[in-house]
Amino acid sequence: MADLVATDLCMTFTNPQTGAKVEALKDVNFRLKEGEILSVLGPSGCGKTTLLNIVAGFINPSSGTVALDDEIIKGPGADRGMVFQQGALFEWLPVEKNVDFGLRMKNTNKAEAAEKVEHWLDTVGLQGFGKTPTYQLSGGMQQRVALARCLVNDPEVILMDEPLGALDALTREKMQSLVLELWKETGKTIMIITHSVEEALLLGERLFVMAPRPGRLHKEYNLPFAERGLKESLREIKKDPEFSRVREEILTMIWDMEEEIMGRV
Ligand SMILES: Nc1ncnc2c1ncn2[C@@H]1O[C@H](COP(=O)(O)OP(=O)(O)O)[C@@H](O)[C@H]1O
Ligand SMILES: [Mg+2]
Repeated sequence: MADLVATDLCMTFTNPQTGAKVEALKDVNFRLKEGEILSVLGPSGCGKTTLLNIVAGFINPSSGTVALDDEIIKGPGADRGMVFQQGALFEWLPVEKNVDFGLRMKNTNKAEAAEKVEHWLDTVGLQGFGKTPTYQLSGGMQQRVALARCLVNDPEVILMDEPLGALDALTREKMQSLVLELWKETGKTIMIITHSVEEALLLGERLFVMAPRPGRLHKEYNLPFAERGLKESLREIKKDPEFSRVREEILTMIWDMEEEIMGRV
């Protein structure tokens, strides 16, 4: 099974100047099943990006492991695709050159690459934009390019670090629907970090709330909203009293954590 499994994951950073240690992650354990979509929330500095970077293989944990398909992750690999926050594209290149980047690295046959690029541009709603210089696109369209660039490589797991954080509210809502559509269409395992409680509720059939110092999993939710979002408008789902109830519960939880960090409690 292509499950993603974290076992006793710890990450301690040492400040090279002061020698001070930061426990960015402590004893993190979870199993994400193939095809599940997980959102990760928590106050700034609770280790979200560290967790994603370890899963991506960009950094190695101090102890513990993450395994995909029972194989321990030791570095980056084509089985995991990343979608970063806006600004991670080669803006001076045409859209298609951003999307086929991974395929060129693998020396994919040109006709096959062109076909794949066209397919994924269509799927993310950018039909006909292949030749457009990337900098001419709006922020939302650029994030569509980022999704196509990830999907064209057919990864098993898609990792996203605040991918929609820089977008205006309406564009963000459209992109949230697109993420759900892509999840349904591809059946990929998806892990998405977000600062927005609403977004985490809408996109995660599972949701982890993390706590800081040391960074750890604080609470897990299993939620019906992502599945519902495949059929219903997100606007309607947000009006559901159960949605509001969980949103308030998590907002209070994170608020309390931030108060504690500020030393006001
Ligand atoms: N390369 C690093 N060196 C030292 N400390 C780091 C490094 N990366 C992250 N940290 C620290 O680890 C903690 C978690 O950071 P991060 O994972 O970026 O949190 P989040 O993404 O939840 O805001 C923070 O206290 C941060 O300062
Ligand atoms: Mg972060």
